[in-house]
Amino acid sequence: MLRIFLLVLIPYALVLSFLLWRKAPARRDGKAVSRGWGNRVRILIIGATGGTGRQLVQQALDQGHQVTAFVRGPSKFHLEHANLRIVKGDVLDYASVESAMRGQSAVLSALGHKRFFYPNKIQSDGMRNILRAMKACDVPRLICETALGIGNSVGRWDCLTRSSFFP
Ligand SMILES: NC(=O)c1ccc[n+]([C@@H]2O[C@H](COP(=O)([O-])OP(=O)(O)OC[C@H]3O[C@@H](n4cnc5c(N)ncnc54)[C@H](OP(=O)(O)O)[C@@H]3O)[C@@H](O)[C@H]2O)c1
Repeated sequence: MLRIFLLVLIPYALVLSFLLWRKAPARRDGKAVSRGWGNRVRILIIGATGGTGRQLVQQALDQGHQVTAFVRGPSKFHLEHANLRIVKGDVLDYASVESAMRGQSAVLSALGHKRFFYPNKIQSDGMRNILRAMKACDVPRLICETALGIGNSVGRWDCLTRSSFFP
């Protein structure tokens, strides 16, 4: 039984890896990315202490942007840079989000949590506050990192995962 399972699973994993590799977005190493409003942008990064948030901060600074890192615990964030401002806040506290939002040109959200085993509304309530503050401060652009399966990315799930969520 195990042998049959492995005989099916291994080719499936190989084909899937190949297809996902083929569909991966093209890298633009070394090429300037057009943003349509000049090369320097004032970016608010939410979730800046997280795994991807730290990468976003570093890459935005490397590209010469003015970065505001929105963090709950500034003591957890050790990066220093002339173009970096660290702001203490909580996405669930609207006033702190709006205060950090003023004067920004764009928002990157890498908001996430590790509370997988009980319900919480950090993402939905947090995003509601981010959008409300963007409207209030007239900030036009948002890039939000969510999870595979949200919105139209559901089409990129492999059929095994899809069939476990939508039997
Ligand atoms: N990493 C991946 O491979 C991957 C893949 C697909 C999708 N994603 C999605 O991308 C997002 C970020 O992933 P990640 O791995 O970088 O997450 P992470 O390491 O867990 O970081 C989450 C960030 O959100 C912050 N945060 C949580 N609650 C907050 C609150 N109430 N107010 C302000 N900040 C708050 C955390 O701050 P604290 O440090 O204070 O907790 C942390 O900086 C998640 O939504 C995740 O599902 C990640």
